[in-house]
Amino acid sequence: MVTAALQYSAVAQAVVAGFARKPKRLPSWLFYDETGDKIFQSIMRMPEYYLTGCEYEILQMHKTALREHLVADGSPFNLVELGAGDGFKTEILLHHLTDQRVSFTFSPVDVSQSVLSQLVERLDKSVPGLVIHPIHRKYHDALDFFAGDALRKVILFMGANIGNFTVEEAVSFTKSISATMQQDDQLLIGFDLKKDPRLIQAAYDDPHGITRDFNMNLLVRLNRELGAQFQLDQFRHYPYYDPESGMTKSYLVSLKAQDVYFEALEKHVHFDRWEVIHTEVSQKYDLEMIQQLADKSGLAVVEVFYDCKHYFCDVLLANSG
Ligand code: TRP
Repeated sequence: MVTAALQYSAVAQAVVAGFARKPKRLPSWLFYDETGDKIFQSIMRMPEYYLTGCEYEILQMHKTALREHLVADGSPFNLVELGAGDGFKTEILLHHLTDQRVSFTFSPVDVSQSVLSQLVERLDKSVPGLVIHPIHRKYHDALDFFAGDALRKVILFMGANIGNFTVEEAVSFTKSISATMQQDDQLLIGFDLKKDPRLIQAAYDDPHGITRDFNMNLLVRLNRELGAQFQLDQFRHYPYYDPESGMTKSYLVSLKAQDVYFEALEKHVHFDRWEVIHTEVSQKYDLEMIQQLADKSGLAVVEVFYDCKHYFCDVLLANSG
């Protein structure tokens, strides 16, 4: 038993652990293989996925105010971005800071090596003079990496990243960040806000089928990497937004009772008819929830930056202790 488990790849282990749960679950990092990275970039470009445009607008509108906070006493700082992705939005801030001759280095952290390499290559050209230290790690390991660093830190955790945690998970994550923060360090977190439920629903259930492809790509990946035999037309993409809790969940629903063989696991996995695999959480917030998150993590809200429509906000936080 133990030896067999040790031979499993990280993907196989995640599947075994996730499918042992009820309902079955797959972790969200599995989305981001090469195809997944590409589909997610298409998601970010579609009009229904308002999040990207909102945060872009926030950074454009508030970059001067943001810079003034980040510069603080003028001492050099390390701008650490957790889950940097393609850096499309961060680039606005990076441009502005370099134009204004602010003294800082940029450390993008991401689990995807291909996304990180593309990012560095692009920024090398588009933001001349920027000093970049890319870090290929999961968030948690990256935090340990910076814990002993003497340089002042500004940590960015933007986009829909915090939304991928449940509210409880978000508290424990921000707690672990605040534990590594020195007195003068700052943290900027992006929150997607509660709004017309239909707008949110559409962002996760677009008419082009791009989000469906993104969700279904998980099965494609398991077919390829674990020799699984999922028939894609026997599963359906189903997203659901609950305006009361603010939680969006995405599911893959089995359309019939079926046993799916996994070569790498040398076994079948059973799905009942209408059984779901829960693949994603995207938590939406209101100001009260944000304030509670800050309080529970020992952080103080310094300023809240909104887009024009108040669909989204970037919240600047500092140590309250
Ligand atoms: N988690 C991200 C978000 O909340 C990415 C995402 C967008 C996503 N659409 C999705 C994940 C659909 C799973 C299914 O925006």
